Amino acid sequence: MRFPLTNSFIVGVYAKLEPVYDLLFGAALQAGRVAAVRRMGHRAGTRVLEVGIGTGINASLYPRDFQVVGIDLSSQMLAKAKQRVQREGLRQVQLHNMDAAHLSFADDTFDVVYAPYTISVVPDPVRVAREMRRVCRPGGIILILNHFRSSNPMVASVERAISGLTAFVGFRSDLELSGLLSRAQLTPSSIDMVNVPPIWSLVTCTKNSLRHENSSHVNSGAAVAAEDQRHTTENTETNSKTD
Ligand SMILES: C[S@@+](CC[C@H](N)C(=O)[O-])C[C@H]1O[C@@H](n2cnc3c(N)ncnc32)[C@H](O)[C@@H]1O
Repeated sequence: MRFPLTNSFIVGVYAKLEPVYDLLFGAALQAGRVAAVRRMGHRAGTRVLEVGIGTGINASLYPRDFQVVGIDLSSQMLAKAKQRVQREGLRQVQLHNMDAAHLSFADDTFDVVYAPYTISVVPDPVRVAREMRRVCRPGGIILILNHFRSSNPMVASVERAISGLTAFVGFRSDLELSGLLSRAQLTPSSIDMVNVPPIWSLVTCTKNSLRHENSSHVNSGAAVAAEDQRHTTENTETNSKTD
């Protein structure tokens, strides 16, 4: 059987999860969400993109003077978010049905681009991380809150073994952090372990200045193309292994 993380599969999983999502993943993962919003600092007018806003469980954590855009692939999760935003009068939060792999925002739009518990849910995490970087302004913050494959070989082998199963509850358990960051040309300024047990990472990256981005793009164009080719090959291999 092929690894089943496709957009349509994910939409189906979250249609089933929506009624129980907050119960299952609310309080248990809340400490990480609180830490991430704290990491954003507080400057009036900060433009935030939340990638995979789900039921809007983060929405009330943002300061009222932020401008927050939340996107999600699942219209059912978004409907729940909409109810929450209306019920709690969170006028600073706008919601859009959108694929994180194809963001319809211009380059450099947001001060903060934040993916809470989403990057291991999408079929192509590298593409999504690159999109996050693209829409973040130079000097802005990219925050990824997620579980990643353990550096302990025994734990990692269990995470690899169960990843085909965890896909059925909407995420993969064996996503490797350093490869993801290097392929997306992101350099972490900090990685903090959060939640209890502390097996989730809050990864903070700052988008380089425009000049540096442009020059690194020019200098490493061939390297990025080669990396893309390797990524495609690895994805194909991962899929074949789970056939
Ligand atoms: C585990 S939930 C995280 C929800 C919320 N951010 C939280 O803190 O609990 C992952 C969310 O990502 C959404 N998602 C999955 N693939 C996506 C994609 N390609 N583009 C946008 N959202 C996606 C799912 O529909 C789901 O609502």
